[in-house]
Amino acid sequence: MHPSSLEIAVTAIFIALTTAIEFDTFDGPGFPACHNVSAVYQPTSVDEMVSLVKMAATSSIPVRASGKGHMWYDTMCSDDNNTIIIQTEGVHGISNFTLDGDTGSVMIEAGVTFFELADYLHARGASIGYALVNWNMTIAGAVAMGAHRSSLREASMVASGALEIHIIDATGTIQEIVRDENDDTWLAASTSLGLLGPIARIKFKIYPDFKLYAQQTIMDEDDVLNGDIYGLIAPYATANFWWWPYNRKFHHRYYDVVPTNQSSQEGFQSTFSITEFEAVTARTLLDSGKLLETSNMLAETIFFGIWSAPNFHEKTTDTAITTWPVYGWDYDVLIGGLYPGLLPEWDYNLRGYTLELAVPVTMANQLLKRVRELFDAQLAQGITMTATYRSGINIKFGRPYNDLLGQVWDEDTGDVDWTKGAIMFDFPSYRPTWGDNLRFNEPFYHNLSTTLINEFPCRPHWTKNTRTVLEQSVKNLDTEHLRRFKSVREKFDPNGIFKSIVGEIIGVV
Ligand SMILES: Cc1cc2nc3c(=O)[nH]c(=O)nc-3n(C[C@H](O)[C@H](O)[C@H](O)COP(=O)(O)OP(=O)(O)OC[C@H]3O[C@@H](n4cnc5c(N)ncnc54)[C@H](O)[C@@H]3O)c2cc1C
Ligand SMILES: *[C@@H]1O[C@H](CO)[C@@H](O)[C@H](O)[C@H]1NC(C)=O
Ligand SMILES: *[C@@H]1O[C@H](CO)[C@@H](O)[C@H](O)[C@H]1NC(C)=O
Ligand SMILES: *[C@@H]1O[C@H](CO)[C@@H](O)[C@H](O)[C@H]1NC(C)=O
Ligand SMILES: *[C@@H]1O[C@H](CO)[C@@H](O)[C@H](O)[C@H]1NC(C)=O
Ligand SMILES: *[C@@H]1O[C@H](CO)[C@@H](O)[C@H](O)[C@H]1NC(C)=O
Ligand SMILES: *[C@@H]1O[C@H](CO)[C@@H](O)[C@H](O)[C@H]1NC(C)=O
Repeated sequence: MHPSSLEIAVTAIFIALTTAIEFDTFDGPGFPACHNVSAVYQPTSVDEMVSLVKMAATSSIPVRASGKGHMWYDTMCSDDNNTIIIQTEGVHGISNFTLDGDTGSVMIEAGVTFFELADYLHARGASIGYALVNWNMTIAGAVAMGAHRSSLREASMVASGALEIHIIDATGTIQEIVRDENDDTWLAASTSLGLLGPIARIKFKIYPDFKLYAQQTIMDEDDVLNGDIYGLIAPYATANFWWWPYNRKFHHRYYDVVPTNQSSQEGFQSTFSITEFEAVTARTLLDSGKLLETSNMLAETIFFGIWSAPNFHEKTTDTAITTWPVYGWDYDVLIGGLYPGLLPEWDYNLRGYTLELAVPVTMANQLLKRVRELFDAQLAQGITMTATYRSGINIKFGRPYNDLLGQVWDEDTGDVDWTKGAIMFDFPSYRPTWGDNLRFNEPFYHNLSTTLINEFPCRPHWTKNTRTVLEQSVKNLDTEHLRRFKSVREKFDPNGIFKSIVGEIIGVV
């Protein structure tokens, strides 16, 4: 412990308690992750994080860690106005790199982002394999919330890459929890929702760097809805669909390993980079779509066309790649980031609502057909619903992974079989910039989520759902898992200083 940082912490809190601070998501002002916190700290070392937790615990002040705020709704903290935030950006050391043959490990601190670690590893001929989500978020934040990419063949929970998770408990002690599937402490720490305390460090598994291809085809909707969905996804290292319900098409995207010498192309993916011209065009169209369904129909058709071409640039020259398949290094192909000089869409005031629900992949056809019925029921009333997001509706998949609160935990209850994996229905939609900011035919979205949660054993994503969706989903969670999680949580944090809305809704704090 550093007495100096403890003193600074105490003084700063004393000053900050008199004002109200909205702590925002990546969408910025007006998009609170926490409505009213008393202070936001930006420590620069793990020792300082420990001091802050000790100080908060002494005064029974609630405390939450935050990485990059890459979440959608007001569920990060509880509604306790005294809450303090430990913003981890400045604590981003990477150390103890070892790579011996096919595998190795590296120690990262709380604020290390995916792109920071990828750059560090690539320079050393290594990578983090498939445990990837997006570029500008912390690995600790992704592990805490059970984030995942899309694969049935490979482990794709970010937490699956963690070998040790070091958590600061409510006494300010760093507990080093080592992977052990027979230990409830590990199973709770693996998807902890931040409720055991801030993650200070993670020992992460690494691999030699490798190259991949990315391929994409267009499928008719009927061929997916009535097709062998498992068979279209499971053969690949990673694969997903994007659904265009107005156009009645899917994009089928898949990736797999190629020999390093197969191609000298260095493809770099970007999902979120856009030019100002594209942003203004999309915003104008989609804003009018709040009232005019024809605008949404046109927007989906344009987006579908754009999304059919590779969303990749050649990294060495920053020029567009125009033909599939695309080749490149694993991180660049699977995630990439922003193209040089371009901003992500949200920096142009293009913002979204979202929803993500997982059901067993054995119910994949049934799920997508039910969604189609809900779209068609609107159509029968003369209302055309569309995707209003530049990459359509994202349909992802998850290989089973054992922990207590992950979206893809491995379980067969007799009625419901999660052992083959999960399909995720991830439905982002445009948030109009004007008026009440509600969408065209807003009630449809709520009907849809309620219907799916009532008819399917949906497990919610922990940072992509509103409070209401989380509340509705509680009935589908395993009560025994919640009980076991709660009992570990009580050992780490008997007084509940790490509480959050998510933890309150699922009844574990
Ligand atoms: C553009 C975009 C794309 C995304 N893509 C995907 C995807 O493909 N798959 C997927 O599963 N998710 C995805 N997400 C969601 C994202 O993975 C999670 O919301 C993740 O938690 C964000 O990490 P962060 O560092 O920004 O954390 P924050 O948003 O700052 O925090 C999220 C939660 O984690 C807690 N937390 C953060 N850091 C720590 C820590 N060190 N210790 C304990 N708790 C902590 C916070 O208290 C909060 O409750 C995406 C989000 C965005 C914005
Ligand atoms: C924030 O919390 C403080 C302390 O409870 C309270 O005085 C203030 O009114 C709150 N501000 C907002 C905007 O809710
Ligand atoms: C990452 O996000 C931060 C905001 O938290 C932003 O300032 C920064 O420019 C982003 N970096 C990249 C490479 O996207
Ligand atoms: C936070 O402050 C607001 C505004 O004063 C108040 O309405 C709310 O009850 C406070 N919340 C708590 C949990 O104290
Ligand atoms: C790195 O490894 C050394 C030797 O095993 C160990 O003493 C040290 O604590 C490790 N560093 C971190 C940050 O874990
Ligand atoms: C790549 O390397 C392997 C093994 O060295 C070799 O057999 C193969 O012919 C090479 N392929 C190309 C396209 O150069
Ligand atoms: C909502 O669902 C109800 C019952 O299923 C249906 O009658 C109604 O038309 C739906 N409304 C919308 C806007 O989807």
